[in-house]
Amino acid sequence: MKFPAIALMLAGLLSMNAATAAEAAKAPAAKPEPTKSEAPKDAATLVNTVCAACHNADGNSVITANPRLAGQHAAYLAKQLRDFQSGKRASPVMAPLAATLTPQDITQLAAYFAAQKPKGGTAKENGPGSLGERIYRGGLAAKGVPACAACHGPNGAGIPIQFPRLSGQHAEYTVNQLKAFRSGERANAPMMKVIASKMTDEEIVAVSDYIQGLH
Ligand code: HEC
Ligand code: HEC
Repeated sequence: MKFPAIALMLAGLLSMNAATAAEAAKAPAAKPEPTKSEAPKDAATLVNTVCAACHNADGNSVITANPRLAGQHAAYLAKQLRDFQSGKRASPVMAPLAATLTPQDITQLAAYFAAQKPKGGTAKENGPGSLGERIYRGGLAAKGVPACAACHGPNGAGIPIQFPRLSGQHAEYTVNQLKAFRSGERANAPMMKVIASKMTDEEIVAVSDYIQGLH
């Protein structure tokens, strides 16, 4: 079965649960025993039935448009899932999926992916001495672009809980995010909008390639 069918089925299941829960809340005196489908979902089940298709079960996605989640800080992952729900971070793919998650699912999924071991990547062209490295480590002083390392750490490990891990992330995904910050499509990080607004496409591509090889 193709993925969207599974997601729809899951969405249906979850909304049925919500309806059942609402019924139960109306009649507290005769509260029925929770049925099996109402039991708290275990994170691994959700991961394997929904997230793994795009992010892999270990969070090291193979498709480069899909971010690697392995080893990312849990607080950051949870914030993104809530921002997809509220629409602060627009994503036609993640918004309908995030809409089916309860706050408890979000906490568990974030903890699950944070605990996975990240696999490193390699830069295509932006190794030592490259434009990508110069931007990451020193910023672009003439344009007022600060060094990425100042907030994301010298090796891209990030600084919990505010600054996400970047190292080893797929360059294609990072390019998409920097452009989404710049256009305002991703409106959940005012700091990043200011920074990305000052960057050209060429600079975005260079620093994203460098980040893919950071470890
Ligand atoms: C159909 C493919 C697909 C599925 C299934 C999917 N994702 Fe995603 N996910 C994406 C894409 C694409 C993005 C990037 C969205 C964007 O462009 O902002 C993303 C982004 C994310 C992000 C943001 C990561 C970051 O670094 O900011 C998180 C967190 C996330 N997904 C978690 C999940 C979880 C948890 C599940 C399972 C419940 C899931 N995803 C299922 C495709 C998918
Ligand atoms: C002043 C601090 C600061 C600096 C400097 C900074 N960032 Fe960020 N960045 C952030 C914050 C905060 C977030 C988290 C946004 C959120 O919570 O959604 C972020 C998020 C990101 C993301 C999204 C990660 C993901 O998984 O989706 C990328 C990509 C990124 N930054 C790249 C860069 C690059 C490249 C530079 C240097 C040109 C840079 N940042 C400089 C603060 C900073």
